[in-house]
Amino acid sequence: MSNKIEIFDTTLRDGEQVPGCKLNTAQKLKIAEALDSLGVDVIEAGFPISSPGDFLSVTEISKVVKNATVCALSRAVKKDIETAAEALKYAVKPRIHTGIGTSESHIKYKFNSTPDKIIEQAIEAVKLAKTFVEDVEFYAEDAGRTDNAFLAKVCSAAVKAGATVLNIPDTTGYCLPDEYGAKIKYLTEHVVGIEKVKLSCHCHNDLGLATANAISGVINGARQIECTINGIGERAGNTALEEVVMILRQHPALNLTTNIKTRQLLAMSKMVSQEMGMFVQANKAIVGDNAFAHSSGIHQDGVIKNRETYEIINPSDIGVTESSIVLTARSGRSALAYRAKKVGYELTKNDLDIVYLEFLKLADNTKEVKDDDLHRLIEMSKARLEINI
Ligand code: KIV
Ligand code: ZN
Repeated sequence: MSNKIEIFDTTLRDGEQVPGCKLNTAQKLKIAEALDSLGVDVIEAGFPISSPGDFLSVTEISKVVKNATVCALSRAVKKDIETAAEALKYAVKPRIHTGIGTSESHIKYKFNSTPDKIIEQAIEAVKLAKTFVEDVEFYAEDAGRTDNAFLAKVCSAAVKAGATVLNIPDTTGYCLPDEYGAKIKYLTEHVVGIEKVKLSCHCHNDLGLATANAISGVINGARQIECTINGIGERAGNTALEEVVMILRQHPALNLTTNIKTRQLLAMSKMVSQEMGMFVQANKAIVGDNAFAHSSGIHQDGVIKNRETYEIINPSDIGVTESSIVLTARSGRSALAYRAKKVGYELTKNDLDIVYLEFLKLADNTKEVKDDDLHRLIEMSKARLEINI
């Protein structure tokens, strides 16, 4: 089995389902081009039947994307599939993503149907999609809560009908990592024709497990991860692209790789955040403002001596210029000396003792001591310092 994990980005489809994050075609084109240059393997550009605007966006994205496969979503419905195919007609590498709910709850409440009829509908959908494009991805919606034996039966039927990729969504973000991994493993052992196709992880974050579940999926044999920039998406979001990519990169023992140019990750995160007007929490893994910021004295002292004491990622690997040492009331002398040097003061040990006392008085009454405050503190104390200011 190959050790390459394909990255399927769904920022422009599942990500854009976030209330208030709607993008216009020009914004989607800008993001699609950036994703292509980031190195994603598949861009899910939209759900063309959903609106004329989305149809237009998928069409325009299909024209400009040079390297990635361009994918369009559809339900297992004739008109959806035809519309997806039409929107993809300019794509160099088009993929139709079609599927249907397979859990007991979806079959009963959403479709008022039966397991056999769901399988028939899945087969028809894949066969129809196959008349337009070679590359057809089948999704079994709510696979996370679908009985494994039935899931394997639906997936086997989809493979026989011509599916090239099987998407196993944990639509409601319910699974535990071991459970999701075991599901993927079960499918690798029970889907007829599995050797011809790729299994894909599509995990939601309702319990904060989307990233862990996707990683468990690839450890157990999936070879594609569906994810979004900054983990945005329906409800609590999807697996975050930057997280899975960096997990695989930082754990070489897993022997799994991606094509992502990680140095572009921060810029990509900022672009999506800005275009969608969706702010990234400061403590967000990999791309949050605090991901490489150190504020407690013990940590700062370690990082100043050697970055690796408290950092497992080199910030430049994701496009961050350098780690930051934030001055707060928890900071120690070494952090103060370090930051003073950065703004132009080489303090002696004696100077440091004097400035540190003043610094603590200020720091106890403020959230963060900034460069301007530092200049002021040193200027205020200059009569008592050995250095020449
Ligand atoms: O979460 C989900 O099940 C989906 C499918 C439409 C692929 O987004
Ligand atoms: Zn989803």
